Parts: sequence; structure tokens; C-alpha cells
Amino acid sequence: MAEENQNIAALMVEERQYPPDPEFTAQANAKPGFYEQDPDAFWEKEGRDRLSWFTDFTTLKEWDRPYARWYLGGKLNACYNCVDRHVENGLGDKVAYHWEGEPVGDKLTITYADLQSRVVRAANGFKSLGIGKGTKVAVYMGMIPEAPVTLLALARIGAPFTFVFGGFSANALGSRMAEMECEYLVTQDAANRRGKAGPLKPVADQAMDMAPTVKTCVTVRRTGTEVELKEGRDRWWHDVVDGQDDDPASCPCEPMDSEDMFFLMFSSGTTGKPKGIVHSTAGYLAGVSTTHYYVFDIKPDTVYWCAADIGWITGHSYIVFGPLVNATTSVMYEGTPDFPDKDRWWDIIERYQVNVLYTAPTSIRTHMKWGDQYAARHDLSSLKVLGSVGEPINPEAWVWYREHIGGGKAPVVDTWWQTENGMILVTPLPGITTLKPGSATRAFPGVQAAVYDESGREIPPGEGAGYMVVKEPWPAMFRGLYNDDQRFKDTYWSTFPDAYLAGDGARVDEDGDFWLMGRIDDVMNVSGHRLSTIEIESALVNHPDVAQAAVVSRSDATTGQAIVAYVTLKDGARGTTEKLAELREHVGTMIGPIAKPANVVFAAELPMTRSGKIMRRLLKDVAENRALGDTTTLADPTVVEEIKARAEAGKED
Ligand code: WT7
Repeated sequence: MAEENQNIAALMVEERQYPPDPEFTAQANAKPGFYEQDPDAFWEKEGRDRLSWFTDFTTLKEWDRPYARWYLGGKLNACYNCVDRHVENGLGDKVAYHWEGEPVGDKLTITYADLQSRVVRAANGFKSLGIGKGTKVAVYMGMIPEAPVTLLALARIGAPFTFVFGGFSANALGSRMAEMECEYLVTQDAANRRGKAGPLKPVADQAMDMAPTVKTCVTVRRTGTEVELKEGRDRWWHDVVDGQDDDPASCPCEPMDSEDMFFLMFSSGTTGKPKGIVHSTAGYLAGVSTTHYYVFDIKPDTVYWCAADIGWITGHSYIVFGPLVNATTSVMYEGTPDFPDKDRWWDIIERYQVNVLYTAPTSIRTHMKWGDQYAARHDLSSLKVLGSVGEPINPEAWVWYREHIGGGKAPVVDTWWQTENGMILVTPLPGITTLKPGSATRAFPGVQAAVYDESGREIPPGEGAGYMVVKEPWPAMFRGLYNDDQRFKDTYWSTFPDAYLAGDGARVDEDGDFWLMGRIDDVMNVSGHRLSTIEIESALVNHPDVAQAAVVSRSDATTGQAIVAYVTLKDGARGTTEKLAELREHVGTMIGPIAKPANVVFAAELPMTRSGKIMRRLLKDVAENRALGDTTTLADPTVVEEIKARAEAGKED
């Protein structure tokens, strides 16, 4: 009976619809008819109007599957588009960032003129160290003003970068720098996190030992934590940057080709090695700024806040480049949402009169868990649009977000995209789209998304689930995997002859709305971030006591998915609580704290097929506490029963 009720409830949830408010529609950036535009004419116009070119492009795009090129023949500079031209156009006094440090009262208002002067000084400083066009630079920072300043300064010079999320370990940073062959690293002493200083420079020191190409490291003093500076390699940011000329003429913006590599962003894949996803200059900037403008309904006076971290693609596209191309005023917050109390976000929204909030379902669920009272303490009536990204948003969280944060009226835009995509691909448009909680609704104009069955046929609306694909290239599409063309072709372009394989399951309902259903490969989604099972297994097996490891995910009310590791110890050793803690720490050190397994189950053996493959599917059944699926291909069927018994016995741990 209980189960029957749940099904009915689920159906009812799916049927809830929220048509646009006519008042919103009347002022929306996207006008009726927006979806009927010719895609090429649309991107041509956006590319010309939204970006400033040193040399106009001559050809909109070339598509030699799987290689796309956009805005060919054009020359431009990302920093010029994000900063200089706004100052030249009289927007120097407009606020670019309301930056808020984690310590209460620590804030900074950065206008476009301030941003220009900071960026020019940084660029001159970097140049003085030998960074020039084409020099590869790694950035390992938290959410401090120097983070966007660094990216813009590198863009100004034409130096490609990779920004590694500050929560990643030395191993993760080191391997990424080595893979890209970075010559420079920009970091900070430590980052403020929930009232404590989390070390970054000491981690960077270890990482540099793994990446001998790095010759020079520049460190911002943020917390004042003591750090070691290595003679001949390490420099303070203030020594390199502070005394530099801030006249924009002293450091002109380097004209870059539309297709020049802009940056690399490493992302988890189905094998141990992270993929170096290559983004281009012009197509990326056009894609992120166009989607930013329409999806969040940006006006000249909008105060916009993307509460992600700059270290993820969301931060690159929607904290830095998209909003700055559009000369938007953003909020940037350094710390955690519960410092000093659980209403910090709502306090920020009230003080800066934020109009748009863009965050992840995992954060929304965390706020739900903390309770409505924190948001209720604040006036959130400035909010007009709410965004969600990172994983499917469950309808309860969607409705809570709209009710408790959006005053029961703000449209929630559930935006589907990936690191590879660079920009939002499937999303409602506020003022136009009828919203459905849990559905990302429609492909953005000019984007040809579809759902295919196994044989590569498009599944018509209302006829079930299949593989999420994109049939035509889009401007911000990644241009490949760094130094690994074969993997690029194999991963994304070999399953179907005529489409990009996203790796997500999806269905299209009778109205033509997309419902995303999570990853179909061995990649998990924890708190809105992709982690590969194999990477975590490799980290576990790297521990001297571990013989075998298998990692799966189970559903989790807050993080979406949680990591469960099944581990066999060497020499038949028995697992202990201490060993469990040690293995979690080990994974944290190897990859980063977000990769630490929520549970570790010790097993004498792991379930294998006769051909020696670990049957993760069965381990997932155990992790999810459900009846075991087909066990007929198991080499030894007793193994999984034993694991099940252990998993149950271990629950008290
Ligand atoms: C994967 C991409 C895009 C920046 C953050 C994550 C999942 C993302 C949604 C959404 C359902 C979503 C997908 C996708 N995902 N947004 N709105 N609805 N699923 O970037 O680490 O490259 O992960 O996140 O599974 O493939 P990423």
C-alpha cells in the first residue's frame, strides 16, 4: 500500500506545471518566437553583437565531425571583451564584483575600472616573470578576487591556463600540471573555509614535486598562514604584482585567433586518468555570454550570483566569462554557507539585493535539511530568477527552492550541461517556458539535443528513455581532449555515427520536454560533481594494504549520490574501524576530500564474473539495499551473500 501511494505521488509531482507569469514575459530578454530562429543566423548575430572583434570573423562554422570550428578568421581577446571595452564604454564605475570574504565584514567592491587596473598590474607582473603568449599556467586558488584577476590577466597575455579546484589534492593538482606541462603556478597561502585556514601552498609544494615543468610559483597572501618559499622558484604575488603599471596601454590585449586554445578543464572519465577538456576562445565566449543573458534574463542593473566555485566549469562560464562579457554585476563569496550561521547566503542576498541565484541541487537540499527558518529571517524579495545545475533536481527540492527562496513566484531554471559543453544546452527560458519540477525542459535555441535508442534512432516524445545526444555542434563545444585524440573519438563520437554522446540517460515527454536521468557510465555524481569510480578504486588500491577495490554509488538525500567502496585487504587481513578511517583519508589525500567514500565495506572477496570482471552492478544492489539482480554469471555466488551480510553488520560503524 505504501509503495502504491509513493507511485501516485511521483506521478502527481511530474504533472505539476508552472506557466510563465505574463508580467515576467512582458519584460523577458527572450521574446516569443525565440525558438523559431534559424540556428546559424542566431549564432552569427550573437557572435557579432555580443563580442568585440579586432578582426571580424568570415565564416560562422566548419563541421568536420568530430571537429568543430566557430567564428573562423576572427581575432579577439577575452580580457578585452570582459573588462577593457566596458571601461571604454563608460561603465568603469559599474560594479563587476561585490566580493564577500568569509570572515564577517570582510568585503570589497570591485568596479570594472578597478578590475581593469588589477588585471593590468597582474598581467604586467606575470610578463615580468616571463609569461607570454602560449605559456601554460596552472591556477590553484579559492574564491578570492585574485582568482578572476589571474584568469583575466592570463587571457590578456594569451597564456592558456588550467584552474584546478582548491579542494583537490596534491596528487590531482600535480598530475594535471604534468599533463598540461605547465611552467607556472599561481596559488595562495591558504583559503578560508568554515572559520579555518585550509592550506593551499603546502599542497601546491607537493604537487610541484610531481610536475617538474613548473619553474615559478606565485602565491597570494590571503590568510597570513605561514608558508615556505623556495628560493629561485617561489614569489609572493604582492612582490610581483603590486608595483606594476596599471595603465592598460602598458599591456595591450593580445589578439587571439577565434580557435586558439583558451583553457583546459580536467574532468573525470571512465578510466583513471582525468580528461583534459580543451576550450576555444571565440565560440566559448559567445556561447557562455549568450546563454547567460537569456537563461538568467540579465538586465543592465541585474545583481547576479552564481554560488559555484571558480574551479569548476560552472565557475569559469558563469562566474567569470559569461557575466563579464555581459558587463554584469556579480556577487562572489569566498566561504561556506553555514559560516558564521546557516543563513549566510540569505544575508548576502538581502544585503546586495541579489536578483539571480544559480546553485546546485545538493546545496538546495542542504538548505532544506537545515530548515526554512534561515531563509525566513531575510527579505529575499529581490530574487527574480533561480537556477540549478550539476545533477537532476528532485521535484521536492525544486518546489522548496521556488517557495522558500523564490517567494513562490521566481522561475526555477534547471540547466543541463557538462564540462565538455562549456555552456548551458538544455534549459527553460524564464518568461517563455512552462516549468515542470525535475525537467530541464527544452534545448537552448540553436542546440540540437535528442534522445537515441541503442541503435541510434531518435526516440520520439513520450516513448521512453535512452541516451542523451547532441546532433549538431554548438559554439562553446570542447575542441577535443588534450593530447588524446583517440580517447576523444572513442568516448564521445564512436557510439553513434551522427551525434555527440553525453553519457547521460534521458527521456523526452509528450510535450517535448527533456528529463535527465543521471550517468549511464561508471561515473558518479556526488554533490553535482563528476567522479569516476575507477579513479577512486585506483586510489584505494594504491594503499599498501589493499588487494582489490570496487567503488559504486548509492543514493543519498543530500549529496545526490554517495560513494561506497568494497575493499579486500591483502593477506586476508580483517578490516577495522581504524583501517576504514585510514582508507578514507588516503582517498582524500590522493584525490581530494569530496572523493572520500561515505562507507567502506571490507570483504574477503569481491564478486567476479568468470572472466574476472568485478560485478559492480551487484555491489550497487547491496549498496542501495535492494534485492540482488541476476547473479548467474558470478564465478562464486556465495561471495555476494557474504558481502551483503557484512554490509548489514557494518551499519553500526
Ligand atoms: C554531468 C556533467 C555543468 C556543470 C556542472 C557539472 C549532470 C549537470 C544537470 C541537470 C541533470 C545534470 C549530468 C552531466 N548534470 N546538470 N540540470 N540535470 N543532470 O559538470 O562535472 O561536467 O558534470 O552533470 O550527469 O553529464 P560536470
